[in-house]
Amino acid sequence: MRVGYVQTAPRFGEVERNLCRVQALMSIHEKVDLWVLPELFVSGYQFVSRAEVKELAETIPDGPTTQQLIRLAQQQNSHIVAGIAEKKGGYEYNAAILVGPAGLLSHYRKLHLFAEEKEWFSPGNTPFPVSSIPVTDSLGKSFVKIGIMICFDHLFPEAARTLAIRGAEIIAHPANLVIPGYGQLTMKVRAMENRVFTVTANRIGTEARTEKRLHFTGESQIISPCGDLLVSSANDIEDVQVVEIDPALARNKMLTLNNDLFADRRPEFYFH
Ligand code: ACM
Repeated sequence: MRVGYVQTAPRFGEVERNLCRVQALMSIHEKVDLWVLPELFVSGYQFVSRAEVKELAETIPDGPTTQQLIRLAQQQNSHIVAGIAEKKGGYEYNAAILVGPAGLLSHYRKLHLFAEEKEWFSPGNTPFPVSSIPVTDSLGKSFVKIGIMICFDHLFPEAARTLAIRGAEIIAHPANLVIPGYGQLTMKVRAMENRVFTVTANRIGTEARTEKRLHFTGESQIISPCGDLLVSSANDIEDVQVVEIDPALARNKMLTLNNDLFADRRPEFYFH
């Protein structure tokens, strides 16, 4: 199957412009089974008030960005994971969705909020989601399991572990990473310790809407279940990358002939 990501430089609050930019970058490649887009990819990241979050947040699945992504998935016969500011019942969440030609498949609200996100959003209240998407290749139609976590979730190994134990073969990781090197390193480890593919779609650029200047670190990447870097981007350019992967590799948890990384776990000795 073909998996890709888009690395952009969203302009804060310019929702239509940011969506158009992502669509233009996605149109460079055809026949991509799964796209991953950054966290908060249409709104931008650095809110200055809860009122501003309320203004830019959208409903899921009825809001314009989710609906446009579903149309795009239908046109391209593809599936798309993307990060969106969500509003629901008087609360705002840092959310991510998986959509396809059939509509909304997964919906996740970020559990581990980073820094000022704790002022802007309510903490997530949805489990880590895993959904199957159909993939057709020369051998016919099969299903691949896609898990979702968002950015700072990368520093909580339980996030990727939970997704992998639920069967995720590919972990989609929309991100707005700001600490240089952290997420790129931890996601490599998350891929190795769970023997799954990880796709981190990060953004670039700077937001300085308060006295705190945020610089986003780019270096989006796709990692194999063995920890190999299959593709990555620079830290200062918009980019789109697509690679061919064999998701069946993520079903084999054997590290050595004697070590199945999942069967070897000793949960009876954990968290006591
Ligand atoms: C982050 O979670 N956006 C750093």
